[in-house]
Amino acid sequence: SMRLLREEHENRREEILAGDRKAVDRQHALGKRTARERLDLLLDEGSFVEIDMFRRHQAHGLGMEKRRPATDGVVTGSGTIHGRRVFVYAQDFTIFGGSLGEAHARKIHKVMDLAISTGSPFIGLNDSGGARIQEGALSLNGYGGIFRRNVQASGVIPQISVVLGPCAGGAAYSTALADFTFMVDGPAQLYLTGPDVVEAVTGQRISHAELGGAQVHGTRSGVATFVHDDEESCLEDVRYLVSMLPGNNLELPPRAPSRGAADDPRPRLAEIVPPEPNKPYDMRDVVAEVVDDGEFLELHENWAGNVICALARIDGEVVGVVANQPLVLAGVLDVAASQKAARFVRFCDAFSIPLVTLVDVPGFLPGADQEYAGIIRHGAKLLYAYCEATVPRIQVILRKAYGGAYIVMDSRSIGADLSLAWPTNEIAVMGAEGAVNVVYRKELAAAADPAGRRAELLDDYTEELVHPYYAAERGLVDDVIDPVHTRSAVARGLAMLRDKRAPAAQRKHGNVPL
Ligand code: COA
Repeated sequence: SMRLLREEHENRREEILAGDRKAVDRQHALGKRTARERLDLLLDEGSFVEIDMFRRHQAHGLGMEKRRPATDGVVTGSGTIHGRRVFVYAQDFTIFGGSLGEAHARKIHKVMDLAISTGSPFIGLNDSGGARIQEGALSLNGYGGIFRRNVQASGVIPQISVVLGPCAGGAAYSTALADFTFMVDGPAQLYLTGPDVVEAVTGQRISHAELGGAQVHGTRSGVATFVHDDEESCLEDVRYLVSMLPGNNLELPPRAPSRGAADDPRPRLAEIVPPEPNKPYDMRDVVAEVVDDGEFLELHENWAGNVICALARIDGEVVGVVANQPLVLAGVLDVAASQKAARFVRFCDAFSIPLVTLVDVPGFLPGADQEYAGIIRHGAKLLYAYCEATVPRIQVILRKAYGGAYIVMDSRSIGADLSLAWPTNEIAVMGAEGAVNVVYRKELAAAADPAGRRAELLDDYTEELVHPYYAAERGLVDDVIDPVHTRSAVARGLAMLRDKRAPAAQRKHGNVPL
């Protein structure tokens, strides 16, 4: 009868939702939440629509036919974040250690396909022992299907990977292909080959945390975009990130109401930045004055700190902020900073997020280490990313802007739509000391009073070139602005550029230096 069928249906669902008590307790004892508890934190209350709850694996051999738990170790479906639709998977470590077999993989493929066809952000919560050993090549085939979809979806829908437990071997690649990787310090372990294999092959003994913990990836490798102390703050920040992203590349990012930023002088801006070119200050204080509510989401906070990349709003409009940080390595560009900023610029460009670049850069980091590490290739990534970007682009030059680094930091010559300079600014090929030594070497060597002549030449050079008016008179910057009006000027610039359109390039794809 209908009553019995409904009862049976209800019992089946309840059993699946309850999970295996012992395994759930073990998960909690490890300081981890279950897949469903995590989805409750991530998604708006009651919004989750599950897909493939009853799916089981069809594997045989190695005793697999005797253990066929529903869901196959991954919970998949759709839900909303601040009212906007996303697709998700959450791996369930309590079933086969969250390992990925054929059915598990096909469930993920299904929600990825739906995310792409509906133009919705895709979020993966990873907690898994990797490829399911008992399913052999079918497991590996399953990963391949995920990676191919990650790449198809790249630049079409935002992809967010959250690592809340082990994520080893092939699985690690899905995080690298995503736009953003979150890690929780402690349980998250992310590496291609685990400590046992490392020891067997190289003899090196190393712990999980030292090899692929959140700290390592948040500070050394740059693999983690965000590092959190616990799952709760991590998933809360995923929600914050999603609130600033469009659903797909054909939508604009969600706008908040105007904050009257077009007329909002900020006297503190004149105090934060010392006029002396070599005095450090915290560029984050500048960013906080320029963006709405002083609020911004910084990517890679503890990796390549010499450049800041952050998402924020200005007058309600989502922007990507790229800024040199004089507090770290005097704000020079190096290999890591170039990689970090380049990927961020490309993300913003793919998803219609205008770029605001705050420049205070002494140059590229000199040295054999950097040259051997390929600073030319990596610096070229940032150059390429800016040159290619068709979103509205506003450059603000605060103080130093020397040489190649000035060009790369979104100068007008590579396509900025609007370039604004503070009166403290010095755009030049190099600083006065270096310049005078190169240009007047012979004259100084022959001078009767070299020190006196040097001082004269320094004055000349500074008066001639080391100020924003040389560039402003030649149209290389569009305006020289009072620092206190920076927020207003950027807000007006964004409004001016809002309907910017650019034709798509007629080529298969460029060959970005990798
Ligand atoms: N395939 C099949 N089952 C797996 C698995 C895998 N890749 N990884 C873990 N499991 C199973 C375990 O057999 C165990 O099953 P059980 O509950 O029936 O005993 C369960 O998941 C939990 O694993 P366990 O090892 O007890 O958890 P742990 O927290 O001590 O360790 C790992 C977690 C991930 C470090 C460990 O399971 C591991 O090293 N797994 C293999 C990782 C790997 O090399 N994968 C292939 C790379 S692509």
